[in-house]
Amino acid sequence: MLIKSAEFVCSNTQVDKLPAPTLPEYAFIGRSNVGKSSLINALTNKKGLAKTSQRPGKTQLINHFVIDENWYLVDLPGYGYAQTSKKNRADWEKFIRRYLLNRENLQCIFVLIDSRLEPQKIDLDFCCWLGQNGLPFMLVFTKADKQSIVKSDQNMAKFKRALLKWFEEVPARFLTSSEDKMGLEPILEKIDEINQT
Ligand code: GTP
Ligand code: MG
Repeated sequence: MLIKSAEFVCSNTQVDKLPAPTLPEYAFIGRSNVGKSSLINALTNKKGLAKTSQRPGKTQLINHFVIDENWYLVDLPGYGYAQTSKKNRADWEKFIRRYLLNRENLQCIFVLIDSRLEPQKIDLDFCCWLGQNGLPFMLVFTKADKQSIVKSDQNMAKFKRALLKWFEEVPARFLTSSEDKMGLEPILEKIDEINQT
């Protein structure tokens, strides 16, 4: 699938102020700095569409982008940002979980995982929470350009094994690099497939 247009719609801190749930929606979530905003820019081939930063904690709001006037991509704030206060973290949790649990047009949640790291408890816990709540999700491993494919594959396999302790089946997995524009097409194909159903 080739994206023809991608436009910023709005940023929100309140779930009741989100755009009307009339179009299918796909959300990108994961630890701070994992590369959510960069992936949205790479997928849409539009540099600067979603704001990125070397400093974790850049995205603080729920950001909606409309794609081909037909579906939404959503950039979410990262979890696990150590530099923030306990109160901020608790507020984030409440706000994002409320969004994920109540957004009726949400088709799939893409959970981004740093492909350089061994499975992290915070990511596994988050996947478990999604599973327990029956929320559909897939895994996107990021920053593949930063090490060998063999190393990325090893970390992906370890993550899969860790998830198999809780899940009978492991969701779809994608290995990507926003820097090298690698692994993007399979994600867009998957979205297209869901949009068609
Ligand atoms: P928050 O909004 O703070 O939660 O972060 P985020 O997950 O949106 O991360 P963001 O896209 O802002 O990227 C964080 C940093 O990682 C930036 O310096 C990016 O340039 C870098 N980065 C993101 N994706 C890649 C990638 O595929 N390869 C490399 N080498 N760097 C990347
Ligand atoms: Mg971001």
